[in-house]
Amino acid sequence: MSDNHRTHHRIDYTKATLLEHDAGDDPFVLFGRWLKAAEEEGLPEHNAMALATAGSFSISCRIVLLRSFDREGFVFFTNYNSRKALDLERDPRAALTFFWPDHERQVRIEGRAEPVSGDENDAYFHSRPRESRVGAWSSDQSRVAADRDQIDQRFARWQERLKDQEIPRPAHWGGYRVRPVRIEFWQGRPSRLHDRIAFERFDDGSWGRMRLQP
Ligand SMILES: Cc1cc2nc3c(=O)[nH]c(=O)nc-3n(C[C@H](O)[C@H](O)[C@H](O)COP(=O)(O)O)c2cc1C
Repeated sequence: MSDNHRTHHRIDYTKATLLEHDAGDDPFVLFGRWLKAAEEEGLPEHNAMALATAGSFSISCRIVLLRSFDREGFVFFTNYNSRKALDLERDPRAALTFFWPDHERQVRIEGRAEPVSGDENDAYFHSRPRESRVGAWSSDQSRVAADRDQIDQRFARWQERLKDQEIPRPAHWGGYRVRPVRIEFWQGRPSRLHDRIAFERFDDGSWGRMRLQP
């Protein structure tokens, strides 16, 4: 038997279209509409996005959750000592991709990531459940551990240490804002003739729109 796995899975995308008059001239408005549609539909992890970063040795990609966005950029939170953070410190270029299969939609964002302010970090940190705040102290994200027990024991020790007190934000925990220079919207269409509308930011801060071939 061959161990070469092939898949012939194929869907014809028919749910919606993305024409210039729906797309409008403002990528943030369109993104907001698509994100809200995914949220209102109750799509699982509707705010999950793949984040790609460039390391000195390789490119890597992982899922993180979008916590807020506005014209300044797209914000996620993480550990500032993690692999993604070390990558971004070296090379702030980042790419984000959302995929909402139920809506046959993808959004691709490219830009530069910068750490969010201490005040913004504190505000979000203190809105998180207590366990997550303890976890921020106990986990050295992306470092090697001996085994699962070591991780659970570290968590238990930090829980004990932080018990009965307001948990401060560790300096190694915080967010990044990806300031976009390019945002592309993809809507699946029949016969692989998908709609693709991309926006690019000019130096004066305005955005230009273009249609791409599928
Ligand atoms: C649905 C989902 C949501 C996630 N959200 C986050 C997040 O918001 N922040 C984060 O640091 N890791 C998040 N993770 C874990 C990351 O994918 C990754 O495992 C972790 O951040 C370590 O990545 P790194 O070693 O490249 O830094 C999430 C994973 C999944 C599957």
